[in-house]
Amino acid sequence: MTAVNSALPDGAAKLPRHLAVIMDGNGRWAQARGQMRLKGHQAGAQAVRTVIKAALMRGIPILTLYAFSSENWKRPAAEVNGLMTLLARALKEHAAELHQHQVKIRIVGDVSALSTPLQRTIARVEELTSQNHGMTLNIAINYGARPEITAALRKLIQQVQDGRLDLSALSEADISAALYVPQDVDLLIRTGGEFRLSNFLLWQCAYAEIYVSRVLWPDFDEIELDKALHFFAGRERRFGMTSAQLAQAASGAVDLTQP
Ligand code: IPE
Ligand code: IPE
Ligand code: MG
Repeated sequence: MTAVNSALPDGAAKLPRHLAVIMDGNGRWAQARGQMRLKGHQAGAQAVRTVIKAALMRGIPILTLYAFSSENWKRPAAEVNGLMTLLARALKEHAAELHQHQVKIRIVGDVSALSTPLQRTIARVEELTSQNHGMTLNIAINYGARPEITAALRKLIQQVQDGRLDLSALSEADISAALYVPQDVDLLIRTGGEFRLSNFLLWQCAYAEIYVSRVLWPDFDEIELDKALHFFAGRERRFGMTSAQLAQAASGAVDLTQP
């Protein structure tokens, strides 16, 4: 698989550097078919493969997928167990192929609460792909943005107490670096039609473009992904400035790095 931006629709040449996806709607997809929710998660696993492959082909550098939130433990035990089994199976089945494509796999979230066999699988997959320099694939398992920020604060405060970090010099970059996911999100996609963040990447989405698709996750495919990328390519990202300032900066007339 090589990076082929030409696979994108017209005007979508401007790719997000970091694409994050809230993969929602598996349960409703199954219920609409009179099936168990777990069938929806199984169908969702196929959509995960499709979207990873499509992101790779388009040359997206970082893809972060929300697979299981820190709040999802509240679901019935059978559903939680089914999801964990699916996650373990997907990691085992696809790690080798992703490794061949130079994908660096990272599991983001509090993995210490996961079963020992799943933790072992995660450690193996992360180790196998740790030296890869292709796309970074973050899979969020037992992830919540608030627990992530809390853990980062704990780390940073410890560094201050140990004299390794000067409190007066603490920067936004230090906070980003202490998070599970250090990179800002450019485009956030949520499938399933809900307009909420559900505790996903709160710090990193400070300036993300947000695209909500009504399509349920198991039906989300390359065509739907390209719609989102097309939306992103058409956005003017002003970061607090005016359109006129952006136009001037693009023509090289002003240096926006100067105050
Ligand atoms: C998303 O689909 C998958 C997970 C949260 C693990 P849901 O299971 O939330 O599907 P809906 O929202 O109930 O349709
Ligand atoms: C968000 O979906 C979590 C994942 C997609 C893994 P949920 O279905 O859990 O979100 P809420 O509960 O509807 O906000
Ligand atoms: Mg849901």
